[in-house]
Amino acid sequence: MKTRITELFGIEHPIIQGGMHYVGFAELAAAVSNAGGLGIITGLTQKTPADLANEIRRCREMTDKPFGVNLTFLPVLKAPDYPGYVKAIVDGGVKIVETAGNNPQKWLPGLHEAGVKVIHKCTSVRHSLKAEAIGCDAVSVDGFECGGHPGEDDIPNFILLPRAAEELKIPFVASGGMADGRSLVAALALGAEGMNMGTRFMATKEAPIHDNVKQALVAASELDTRLVMRPLRNTERVLRNAATDALLEKERTLGASLKFEDIIEQVAGVYPKIMKDGAMDAGVWSCGMVAGLIRDVPTVKELIDRIMAEADAIIHQRLAGIAAR
Ligand SMILES: Cc1cc2nc3c(=O)[nH]c(=O)nc-3n(C[C@H](O)[C@H](O)[C@H](O)COP(=O)(O)O)c2cc1C
Repeated sequence: MKTRITELFGIEHPIIQGGMHYVGFAELAAAVSNAGGLGIITGLTQKTPADLANEIRRCREMTDKPFGVNLTFLPVLKAPDYPGYVKAIVDGGVKIVETAGNNPQKWLPGLHEAGVKVIHKCTSVRHSLKAEAIGCDAVSVDGFECGGHPGEDDIPNFILLPRAAEELKIPFVASGGMADGRSLVAALALGAEGMNMGTRFMATKEAPIHDNVKQALVAASELDTRLVMRPLRNTERVLRNAATDALLEKERTLGASLKFEDIIEQVAGVYPKIMKDGAMDAGVWSCGMVAGLIRDVPTVKELIDRIMAEADAIIHQRLAGIAAR
């Protein structure tokens, strides 16, 4: 399948694996890229720029296909060493960066000068237009369904994607709620040039996370996610567990006076405990509503091949058959 996104990134299938904290290690990124998609290493999961440089090297040993690095700009007072991370990306010869969390304008000239293409993740049409105006090469449009941070507008992809298509000139992928060939064909029909998946890629053999997490995704239904941290305007969609319930109880009791410090136990430093140790109630962790569509743990290649075969059948059999009637 050829779209503006496959052309832009030099990949075979219009499928991107979004950056995921403590999930997007070299093993997963390389598996996605080897299967013809675009794998992405999560920059900030690496504690230092030197660690990121090493992770990029490891990924390159596992694939000769293009892969990217996610740079998430966090709403924190003490910023990570972003110049160091950008240098590790450029020096490591990575040609694709997925930015998220905040306006990446400051970093664009340096990245573009080094021949790096930037895809910025946005949860609204206005932010997507801003990304286009400052010179981003593409946008990942993240609907309300998504795992992680859906923003504060709550617009699902059935509205957000066609709205983005009406306004944007640069190519965009659909993100949030994408799982299979149906998602891909729907995304293309709504004007996107491909799709970005997070949660679905966690439930694959190569995702270097504890099996408890994968089994929790298989067991979960579309009713099992919750939105947390809305009072802090830092909304996150997470899987419901004991920590989610405890956090939501604090939100209810503290109301408008809620501060980040009140929920630190549920959110700070919990990812290694969950993703590495499989301690499923150790804290809140990002998960999309798409969990309701996840029923197995295939290899990344099986998943991507299945998506492409299903998309092909929908286009050439189901839709062509309907159109011919
Ligand atoms: C466990 C997990 C961790 C994530 N961590 C990040 C992150 O560090 N930076 C980022 O930009 N997006 C992060 N995301 C969001 C994904 O890149 C992607 O946009 C999102 O998962 C798409 O929605 P989906 O889960 O419905 O596919 C994370 C998502 C999950 C599920």
